[in-house]
Amino acid sequence: MAETATFDRDRNSAATHPKFLSVWDIQAYYGESYIVQGVSFDIHEGEILALLGRNGAGKTSTLRTIARLDNPALRHGEIWLDHKPLHKMKAHEAAGNGIALVPEDRRIIPGLTVEENLQLAQIAPPVGWSLERIYGLFPRLKERRRQEGVTLSGGEQQMLAIARALARDIKVLLLDEPYEGLAPVIVQEIAKTLNVIRDQGITTIIVEQNAVAALKLADRAVILDTGSVVYDGSAQEVLEDEALRQRYLAI
Ligand SMILES: Nc1ncnc2c1ncn2[C@@H]1O[C@H](COP(=O)(O)OP(=O)(O)O)[C@@H](O)[C@H]1O
Ligand SMILES: [Mg+2]
Repeated sequence: MAETATFDRDRNSAATHPKFLSVWDIQAYYGESYIVQGVSFDIHEGEILALLGRNGAGKTSTLRTIARLDNPALRHGEIWLDHKPLHKMKAHEAAGNGIALVPEDRRIIPGLTVEENLQLAQIAPPVGWSLERIYGLFPRLKERRRQEGVTLSGGEQQMLAIARALARDIKVLLLDEPYEGLAPVIVQEIAKTLNVIRDQGITTIIVEQNAVAALKLADRAVILDTGSVVYDGSAQEVLEDEALRQRYLAI
């Protein structure tokens, strides 16, 4: 395969997999609580992966582990991004290598306008998308650029949280329940935007309770149950397999 021809074969098994982002047997703990129990999956560059599962399945913990936050603590396994060992990095190094986590609470900075929230993200080089490019993708943010970020609607705050990630030079967008609390029309608007972001080559992992919306957007799906992968395959197949959905997603 042409894809493997330039690959460094001296590296270990996880690294020899010709995928853009490889998560291999990661095991992570909150204190002594064993939460992420050997999760593995791969993503191609520019793919959208839906990471699904019931409440408490370990989705947020998996995203936090990939972003290299201290908790849960990674004690086993490897995470490779574009041939770089994320598992050996701290959160700020992972961020510097192109990982962006948009947490569930969105973390819009109070007291700053929309534009200031974006400008603050652009302080540290390498800088990502320009304001013009971001406003081209999110015209609503342009209209409200002088408004304080925390006074935006829920959907607009989610757009700002995603836009702020793009203002840095990122490769992978980790979204934790971006559709939470949003009206269906806003969910559709954000999904359209995520498709454009995919077309620009950014790789996305989307965690969602709104599994149907995430599956319609995603190329692939990974389903977690009590910290382990119980499904890894096409998103379309999950949409069509009612028994699978009922068993692991309760929908
Ligand atoms: N900070 C924490 N300390 C201890 N246990 C936690 C912590 N955060 C989450 N957990 C536990 O880890 C498990 C997985 O949680 P989480 O990753 O948040 O699941 P999900 O995002 O799929 O709902 C749950 O049992 C939860 O109670
Ligand atoms: Mg969660």
